[in-house]
Amino acid sequence: MTEPRKISVFRKEHFNAAHRLYNPDWTDAKNDEVFGLCNNPNFHGHNYELIVQVIGYIEDETGYVVDMKVVSNWIKSEIIEKFDHKNLNLDVPEFKNLNPTAENIAVVIYDKLRKVVPLNLELKIRLYETERNYVEFPVD
Ligand code: NI
Repeated sequence: MTEPRKISVFRKEHFNAAHRLYNPDWTDAKNDEVFGLCNNPNFHGHNYELIVQVIGYIEDETGYVVDMKVVSNWIKSEIIEKFDHKNLNLDVPEFKNLNPTAENIAVVIYDKLRKVVPLNLELKIRLYETERNYVEFPVD
């Protein structure tokens, strides 16, 4: 190949998890007002869809940016095994003092994956909390 080609590859995974959104510094009334049903004290679940975008150059020898089996294994070991069928507030240490909004979950996922994805590859997270609501991190 002549010039290197930069391209994005995507891997989609999903996990189910429970959470509760609340700010311990606020009254119950204020939490209800801001977080509504997501402030249910007994938690509630979402089917999260996670799309991991890896950006890099196509390697001459393989024709790959990265082996998707490897990407899948990174996501499984770093994210799915830690989040799937868990209560994010209670079971995942990162959310002990961090409100598990889609925004914060996406940043936590990014930080966890960034530790295992080689630095020559750029990384971007898209997280769907519902079919209609999703977040992306980082922003271009
Ligand atoms: Ni919720």
